[in-house]
Amino acid sequence: MARIAVTDGMSKDAVALLEKSGHEVVLEFINEKDLLAGALKDFDAIVVRSATKISRDILSNSGSRLKVIGRAGVGVDNIDITAAAELNIPVVNAPRASTQSVIELTIGHLLSSLRHIPRADRSMRLGKWEKKAMKGTELFGKDLGLIGFGRIAQGVGSVAQLLGMKVHTYDPYLPAKVAKTQNTTLHKNIDTLFQNCTHISIHCNFTEETHHLVNSERMALMPGKSRDGIPCGNHIVNCARGGIIDEVALLDALNSGQISSAALDVFEQEPVSAGNQLILHENFHGTPHIGAATLEAQARVGKDIAKAIMKVLSGNTADTTVNSHLLK
Ligand code: MLT
Repeated sequence: MARIAVTDGMSKDAVALLEKSGHEVVLEFINEKDLLAGALKDFDAIVVRSATKISRDILSNSGSRLKVIGRAGVGVDNIDITAAAELNIPVVNAPRASTQSVIELTIGHLLSSLRHIPRADRSMRLGKWEKKAMKGTELFGKDLGLIGFGRIAQGVGSVAQLLGMKVHTYDPYLPAKVAKTQNTTLHKNIDTLFQNCTHISIHCNFTEETHHLVNSERMALMPGKSRDGIPCGNHIVNCARGGIIDEVALLDALNSGQISSAALDVFEQEPVSAGNQLILHENFHGTPHIGAATLEAQARVGKDIAKAIMKVLSGNTADTTVNSHLLK
């Protein structure tokens, strides 16, 4: 039976599932130096989250035993999927398991920004009672722009509509009829999304195309006022991937007041270094990449990835193979 390395942790149930099928699971973080030195030579499979990076060099030093790479999560930007395909190694992920958790975190960040919850909490801890300084605005009646309109964005859009927001999206890969069914305005040009929305939430992958998609020019287009004239300011949330927002430009926009609040779960560099001026800004609040960090999501992620790994190990193709188009 197969030997599976699980380097960034996995739910107990998922480990039990693999072991019950007769596989040996080695739960241990393997650092980059050891991976480069060929630590994967003795494994048939590896399951990673985001901490372990699987580069081309690591793969070329991994011998020929490795048959599958599992990403216990959605984003595969930490794995060289092309290099894996060249070695005929499928990369499988768990794209649906954390959808609900990320939707809920996004809405949490949006509400926290608008009602100054983190700022009010920080102030109360200092013994202050700053009622006047904490006047917020409602989400009701405001325009929310979603960049990318996959499962998570559609879920965020539905909740936002229930709260009375008008939802817009920019997604060059989206068939127009999907936006229509979701009662969402589809923008062909990302700039018109920014021109129309006081609230922006990011839900696309990080690619060369989306690197710094949110930049100073685009943030400058945001209107700062709702359609009915309420000076609600401009707000940005990112629970997708770091690097889609230009963080230097975001800090400038917070300093100038063009952006009234920013809430990020993901960053250009993770972990964020202490003293980073963006996270210290009064109108910023953040979380340390915890979109999928719920008991429910991790249980689903583990189960989905264990099933996909077992499928490949038994000679079949998993539905969630992300590099199938590149495999020989
Ligand atoms: C994902 O891509 O699944 C999430 O961002 C969570 C993670 O990276 O672990």
